[in-house]
This record gives sequence, structure tokens and C-alpha cells, in this order.
Amino acid sequence: VGAHVIRAARITEATALSALCCRSKAHWGYDAAFMVAAARLLAVPQAAIRAGRVLVAEADGAPAGVAVLVPQGGTETWELSHLFVEPLALGRGIGRALFQAAARKARLAGAGRLLILADPNAAGFYARMGAAPAGAVASDLDPQRMLPRYELDLHMAGPPVD
Ligand SMILES: CC(C)(COP(=O)(O)OP(=O)(O)OC[C@H]1O[C@@H](n2cnc3c(N)ncnc32)[C@H](O)[C@@H]1OP(=O)(O)O)[C@@H](O)C(=O)NCCC(=O)NCCS
Repeated sequence: VGAHVIRAARITEATALSALCCRSKAHWGYDAAFMVAAARLLAVPQAAIRAGRVLVAEADGAPAGVAVLVPQGGTETWELSHLFVEPLALGRGIGRALFQAAARKARLAGAGRLLILADPNAAGFYARMGAAPAGAVASDLDPQRMLPRYELDLHMAGPPVD
């Protein structure tokens, strides 16, 4: 995997980006039944692409990672609803680049806070990115499964605005 650039997603990429999210999520070793149930939640909505809220990390001419932002009600709080890197491209800084670009985008749109419901396997990544632990929420797929919640304060700890 070569160098990457961050760009806005194209509307024609919705299916390919949704498949990327599924491959990335499956990398943690979830079983087939879980992945079938999760696919609906992992889909990248075309409306989000149209609204310019989907970022792609492109490497070697193809998407290597994707991030989706969703404003929560007003503009103050935005959620990072998807952050997924292609399994072959993990550990090369693509997750960090997407996270920072998403935080910058939310901040430029006027958000003060970025919210993340993390996969338990990815919690350490969000802590490393400077997000603060903020409790846990039951998974939509399995109420017994608690997902760690993180918040990034975009006023205080956000990456520098370009
Ligand atoms: C979580 C994820 C996005 C990280 O992407 P990545 O491109 O591998 O991460 P980076 O290479 O940019 O890593 C940045 C830093 O975070 C650390 N890090 C990465 N993944 C980590 C993890 N799972 N736990 C703890 N630290 C992690 C790296 O070691 C690196 O540390 P450094 O600052 O000392 O160099 C990626 O593992 C992924 O897509 N996982 C599968 C899908 C998933 O669960 N996504 C998140 C849904 S909430």
C-alpha cells in the first residue's frame, strides 16, 4: 500500500465503500451471523456522500479507508459513525489521517464535539487520537454487548485548522 490522499467520496462509490467497511469490521474475527446483521449498519448512505460527509483515503488508485460524519440534531455534536481501513492497509497511518480530517471537517462546520461509539477492539485507537472515554452504550445488534463511547473536544483538543 503506497502513499494515501484524503478526498471526498463519490456517489458512485457507495457500494464499494460499504463493502470496504464490512471487510474491515470482519478483520476482528466476528462470525458470519454477526457480519450479516452488521452489514445494514455498516452501509455508507448515499445521502451522506451527497452531503459531503464521507471522506475517503485513496491509495494506489483505490479507496483504502473511509470515514462518515453525521451531525446529531444541531451542529454542536457530530458523530463519527464509520471509520474503517482496508485490512491490508492497517497500521500505516490511514486511520489517523481519516480521523484527523473528519475532526477538522466537523470543526469547520461549527461542531464543538465529535462523538464515537467504538468497536471494543478499536477503543485504544480513539484514546490514542486524544478522544476522552465517555461511558458505554448497548449495541443495536446485541443489547448485551456494550460499546465504549468516546468524545473529542473540538474546541480544546482538535487538530489545527488549516
Ligand atoms: C481502528 C482503525 C480505524 C485504525 O486504523 P489504522 O490505519 O490501522 O491506524 P493508524 O495506523 O493510523 O494508527 C494510529 C495510531 O493508533 C494506534 N492504533 C491503531 N489501531 C489501534 C487499536 N486497535 N488499538 C490501540 N491503538 C491502535 C497505532 O498504533 C498508532 O499509534 P502511534 O500514534 O503510536 O503510531 C483500524 O484498525 C480499523 O479500520 N479497524 C477495523 C474496523 C474498525 O473496528 N473500525 C472502527 C470502528 S469504531
